[in-house]
Amino acid sequence: MKKLLICSSLVLAYGAAQAQTVNMICSVQAEWCSLMSTVYAKTTGVKVNMTAKGSGEALAQLNAEKANPKTDIWFGGTGDPHLQAAEQNLTLEYKSAQLTALYPWAQKQAVDSKFRTVGVYLGPLGFGYNTELLAKKKVAPPTSWADLLKPEFKGEIQMANAASSGTSYTVIATLVQLMGEDKAFDYMKQLHKNVSTYTRSGVAPAKAVARGETAVSISFVHDVTTEATQGFPAASVTPSEGTGAEIGSMSIVKDGPNTEAAKKFYEWALTPGGQQFGLAAKQFQLPSNAKVPVDPRMTNPSKIKLINYDYAKYGASAERRRLIAKWEKEVFNQPR
Ligand code: G6P
Repeated sequence: MKKLLICSSLVLAYGAAQAQTVNMICSVQAEWCSLMSTVYAKTTGVKVNMTAKGSGEALAQLNAEKANPKTDIWFGGTGDPHLQAAEQNLTLEYKSAQLTALYPWAQKQAVDSKFRTVGVYLGPLGFGYNTELLAKKKVAPPTSWADLLKPEFKGEIQMANAASSGTSYTVIATLVQLMGEDKAFDYMKQLHKNVSTYTRSGVAPAKAVARGETAVSISFVHDVTTEATQGFPAASVTPSEGTGAEIGSMSIVKDGPNTEAAKKFYEWALTPGGQQFGLAAKQFQLPSNAKVPVDPRMTNPSKIKLINYDYAKYGASAERRRLIAKWEKEVFNQPR
């Protein structure tokens, strides 16, 4: 009898230890997820195993492990692939107790996905530029999408590859909404001639600008701010014609190994306490919980010309796949 008790308490202890883990794919900058994971482990005893992946790559991984999911939670990254994952039934329907504390754009993301994802931050798209390089070349910083086609920017622009990066898809979807599809593709074909490199991750072009490896990037504005706060000669601008924004999102994976633990992490990540770690890790997206103090270095969305980005339409599987395939064929694979 005694033996049995010891045995069952061992099983219980083992079960509890097993539950003390959450497997997370992180699609924001790793510093942010690392800081969250460290604090979460210290305060709750739950270990967060983190894997960093771009938004498009994260979606591909969830698809690849669909039959036997290893991931519990997908934190951050652009919202469109989270919506696609929701539509593909890869993520779990879950209504957070925090929902009503979030800005309307974050709640709408939840509604659009039938509560399979939620907005955790907002970040507008713009351009980064190296102030010293442009001054040396006596070239004025670009202020519009049209400026990027100027001959002085030939070979001087970096953006990300839409196959791996959610940032890049946000660029494509923004241009299609801003110009109409035919004009947007004509524009991107012209732009292609001025682009030197399509990087794997969305943040890489901003880092290249900061380090003087390229003069201009098409980037989320907050990624450029992160570089500038570290002392690099980087500045950003949002295009005068108008621009799009990402709704960085978070989803719980369906049939993941630690779903209950994932729900607790998800709840915490939406509280003001959980949302302070973006800024603490020098990330300047606008947090989705309206109670989180706004830092003056964050872009105020009401002060820039934002398009009315149709997240439901451009996050739909068929549309996202179609536009990326068309971009690869008609733009990316074309000679320069
Ligand atoms: C950076 C930005 C995030 C964005 C992410 C997308 O980490 O700070 O706001 O969501 O890039 O990454 P991706 O590589 O998918 O473009």
